[in-house]
Amino acid sequence: MDSLLIKGGVPLHGEVTISGAKNAVLPIMAATLLTAEECVIRNVPNLSDVKFMGQILASLGAEVRQEGNSYRVRAAKIKGVGDYDLIRKMRGSICIMGPLLGRLKKATVSLPGGCIIGARPINLHLKGFEALGTKITVEAGYVHAHAKRLVGADLFLGGRAGSTVLGTANVMMAATLAEGVTIIESAACEPEVVDLANFLTAMGAKITGVGSPTITITGVKELHGAEHDVIPDRIEAATFAIAAAATDGEVTLLGARPDHMHAILDKMRGAGVKVERKGTSLTVRRNGKLKPVDITTLPYSGFPTDVQAQMMVLMAMTPGISIITERIFESRFMHVSELARLGADIEIEGPSAIVKGGKPLSGAPVMASDLRASAALVIAGMAAKGTTQVNRVYHLDRGYENIDVKLRKLGARIERVEES
Ligand code: EPZ
Repeated sequence: MDSLLIKGGVPLHGEVTISGAKNAVLPIMAATLLTAEECVIRNVPNLSDVKFMGQILASLGAEVRQEGNSYRVRAAKIKGVGDYDLIRKMRGSICIMGPLLGRLKKATVSLPGGCIIGARPINLHLKGFEALGTKITVEAGYVHAHAKRLVGADLFLGGRAGSTVLGTANVMMAATLAEGVTIIESAACEPEVVDLANFLTAMGAKITGVGSPTITITGVKELHGAEHDVIPDRIEAATFAIAAAATDGEVTLLGARPDHMHAILDKMRGAGVKVERKGTSLTVRRNGKLKPVDITTLPYSGFPTDVQAQMMVLMAMTPGISIITERIFESRFMHVSELARLGADIEIEGPSAIVKGGKPLSGAPVMASDLRASAALVIAGMAAKGTTQVNRVYHLDRGYENIDVKLRKLGARIERVEES
């Protein structure tokens, strides 16, 4: 397994182009199963999760062609059973269920594995499918779903932590080909769900209210091929913005969508970071001393859970106390013990981490555990004195396109070490 070797203490300077959003492109790729016609998806980030999704679509019978940062998919003839091992590997694969139900009225997928940040149940996805008339059985690690007819329904999709992003995406995709009208209450409002709805609409779906907690879908007989440009990744943008502040540099993010980042930019400004917006570019640098801020992660448009770990690094360097409360996932503090190896002083109290910031960080070998925790460890390594080795970098490659290349271009002393 590769690792990243980082020599810290170098402020980042320069420009970085933000790639397409992982959490938009995965459901959008799944949505190509809803039509027999060819779809073209552009601005696709080069990520291992995206490659996986391409393999899953191909295992279902779709023709999948990658052309640089574009994918051409034609799901002319497909079957309803996914490749067990492929699907188990990636949580995002669950979003093939909705399109398979919409197109074939049946779907068999493996129960997606939980991961280090939590159990990752799919009860809300299944509740939505059942409301549309689907029969669900779970056996031997597989979820079997089939429906004589898919009939539109009014359904409430809120769960233990509020709305579900992929649950909303899944049910919305199935509903596009159901008979009649479906109303999803407590729908997710994330920009990635809006981007998916825009792609579905380009395919001929009839959807209103997306971006609000109430989405209405009027079923149609069939959908046709479409082309789509994926929105930029607000989480990648936030990660680079925080890295700029943590290393006391100045970085301009090209092609970002500041309108998707209000909660993130608000907290950064509160922490003493200057964020200047020029069109779709954002220039980020410190604005004097860093200040502690309290953060609670919430569904959109609240502060995103996917930026919690990265912000914790900035707070660990900021003199004072900040309290970071994780309300979305039940165990998303795996990075805390690794940050402690670098000298961070953080105590976990239930859903909150109490960060006693201001101690200088010093380099050490650390272990990546999940995608965003890995990004946090890279930021910490760049801000720390001395050398940090981040192991198990495959976590990073799932969600960040060429992150070491992009960071080197900004001046970071970061090398990828292939495991011998
Ligand atoms: C999406 O996961 C993202 N992944 C996650 O990003 C992101 O953290 C998450 O949304 C929240 O914003 C993709 O889009 C591929 P949820 P998703 O369903 O849809 C509970 C990253 O780092 N829940 O919104 O799986 C669940 O346990 C990843 O890029 C149920 O209880 O998340 C969690 O507590 C990590 N039952 C909460 O809802 C269900 O049926 C939110 O989960 C579904 C979810």
